[in-house]
Amino acid sequence: MIGLQIIFRIGCMHLTNTIFYLKKINILEIGSWEGLSSYFILHSLPNATLTCVDTWEGAEEHKTGDATTEDVLSNIEVSFDKNLSPFIDRLTKYKGTSFSFFNENSEKKI
Ligand SMILES: C[S@@+](CC[C@H](N)C(=O)[O-])C[C@H]1O[C@@H](n2cnc3c(N)ncnc32)[C@H](O)[C@@H]1O
Repeated sequence: MIGLQIIFRIGCMHLTNTIFYLKKINILEIGSWEGLSSYFILHSLPNATLTCVDTWEGAEEHKTGDATTEDVLSNIEVSFDKNLSPFIDRLTKYKGTSFSFFNENSEKKI
């Protein structure tokens, strides 16, 4: 009985994944950095569109600590653009804070 339940659950997971894979969905990502998660989303979901919101200036921890180098910081956006270039037709880039994004898009259905 437990074996059947497990098989049923795995079947449901596959069905959910397939529906998610096929569906046209609009995804909003706050904080994209060099675009690795953005790349993963657009690569994994061929029918999805993605809006990426980032200042591309680094977060506070990047500016104060030793979390990254000056060189990386000055090239974040260039790296993002390069990494996401295969998906340019399904990508919307918003350069700014999440606060300004939501202020400007409060009426819009993303
Ligand atoms: C950990 S990184 C994101 C990593 C990325 N999602 C990935 O998987 O490669 C965090 C990013 O969030 C951005 N960020 C943090 N707070 C933000 C805010 N309020 N508005 C826009 N971007 C923000 C930073 O600029 C930084 O690029």
